[in-house]
Amino acid sequence: MPVLEGVPTTKEARAIEKLIFALDIDDLKTAEQLVADVLPYAGYVKIGYEFMYLMNELSFPHVDDETAHLKLTNFRNLMKILSGKIFWDAKLSDIPNQVKQAMEIIARYGVRMVTVHANSSVESLRAVVEAAHAGRNGNNHSVRVLAVTLLTSINDQTSYRDFNRSAKAQVMQMATNAVLAGADGVFCSGEELEFLSQFPEFRNLDKVVTGVRPATYYATYDDHHRVIEPQKAIRAGAKHLVVGRPIRRATGTPPAKAAYLIHQEILKALPESDSAE
Ligand code: C5P
Repeated sequence: MPVLEGVPTTKEARAIEKLIFALDIDDLKTAEQLVADVLPYAGYVKIGYEFMYLMNELSFPHVDDETAHLKLTNFRNLMKILSGKIFWDAKLSDIPNQVKQAMEIIARYGVRMVTVHANSSVESLRAVVEAAHAGRNGNNHSVRVLAVTLLTSINDQTSYRDFNRSAKAQVMQMATNAVLAGADGVFCSGEELEFLSQFPEFRNLDKVVTGVRPATYYATYDDHHRVIEPQKAIRAGAKHLVVGRPIRRATGTPPAKAAYLIHQEILKALPESDSAE
């Protein structure tokens, strides 16, 4: 099994910081194993709906008390391992007061990044940004807010149907909302990286990319329509790559190796110095 030997070099550490592993899992045991396998290569772990609802389930009475206590301890241990590395993919979307109150609680978790749907209005987005930036997590960082522009399952055709404009035009409008609300970054696909970088107003936004598909060992796009290879995404200016299934489910490639291979691709694409990023 490939492993990073010893303390990572500065460049390896920069590559690790780029990778966000999507823990889209509904089973605690598998999650623990995946975290152990992948964490050497990933700076962050994205926790999404499945895992959040799995944790919430322990509050409901259909789970007996003993099981709930036992599992809660295991969840807490996992959260301790992930301390300082959690990307809370809340995809908030509601009226400003609701999302503000949710964000005030999330800020107490000590997570590093959180998502909000950019199409839930500039006012809602701003309410999240203000609550996130007012809260300070354990490392004295505020939570970085990423605005979801357009899910990568949407293509031009469905974007016209749902939003009456192309995917790029929708991403641009949502990125504009993100800037107006003071968000730290956007969630977008690799196809929009170069497009967004043409506009100076988006230069300071962190571009976090989903729909990442390594061509060499992972053949399927799953439900994504807008995809990019890891090296291309890094070269086009992605701040982070979110990768889930190509690590968890690469046929014939165990998760630790799949994560290692993506780490290698990121390394190849990184400039020697971080000032060039
Ligand atoms: O496909 P993969 O498992 O790498 O997806 C990683 C993340 O990308 C998911 O956790 C989800 O939040 C996001 N995603 C998306 N559009 C899709 C599918 C997934 O933005 N069509």
